[in-house]
Amino acid sequence: MAESGRVTARILRELADLIRPGITTAAIDEFVEKTILSEGMIPAFKGYSGYPASACVSVNEQVVHGIPGRRKLKEGDIVSVDVGTIYQGYYSDAARTYAVGAVSEDAAHLIRATEESFFEGLKYCRPGFRLSDVSSAIQRHAEAAGCSVVRDFVGHGIGRAMHEEPQIPNYGPPGRGPKLQPGMCLAIEPMINAGSWKVKVLEDDWTVVTVDGSLSAHYENTVVITEDEPLLLTI
Ligand code: MF3
Ligand code: CO
Repeated sequence: MAESGRVTARILRELADLIRPGITTAAIDEFVEKTILSEGMIPAFKGYSGYPASACVSVNEQVVHGIPGRRKLKEGDIVSVDVGTIYQGYYSDAARTYAVGAVSEDAAHLIRATEESFFEGLKYCRPGFRLSDVSSAIQRHAEAAGCSVVRDFVGHGIGRAMHEEPQIPNYGPPGRGPKLQPGMCLAIEPMINAGSWKVKVLEDDWTVVTVDGSLSAHYENTVVITEDEPLLLTI
């Protein structure tokens, strides 16, 4: 999982330089796929439930699962890229939201609040806490920043499959769910909207958008619970 995570992390780092006004979402996907294959690894998303690409590329009001295509990014857009890699049967899964050129203060605030909410949750990723302590911390931070938490999609356990138990909501009361224990591997992935939390799926059966058209951001890492500090496999 660490080997797989290293490649996922490197891709997300390099995308920061690649993502510029004028690039198509398909070009982002091509870079992701080419890099994974060049490492001798497998893109986890391609063919997953029939998903047609190696990356999910979600622009502006698109929350997650945007399908890459001919759309060109333009200055002021924000774009979320989600990448999954398989190495010798072991998965990693991570996402970032990038600013395309200069973006509005509201957009920059949303991206920052989403990333911060992940790190608030991470503070509870150790033995002695329960799973929903992570969820609750993410929600608290996102809502204090004036944003809302997507309810219909959640984080997940990860390992020999992309989606394992438990589901990890990014909201809810603390103190519930399983006790966190060394060896647990979790994909923690706040999906945060600037407006209402309500989302819907488009006609393509994949692209999730905000119902009110407000911006959405995503930040995800594959995390391992240890005796003390959690390991981040995708940074
Ligand atoms: N990273 C996403 C998740 O955590 C998976 C993308 S869905 C896929 O569920 F179909 F594209 F694989
Ligand atoms: Co995930």
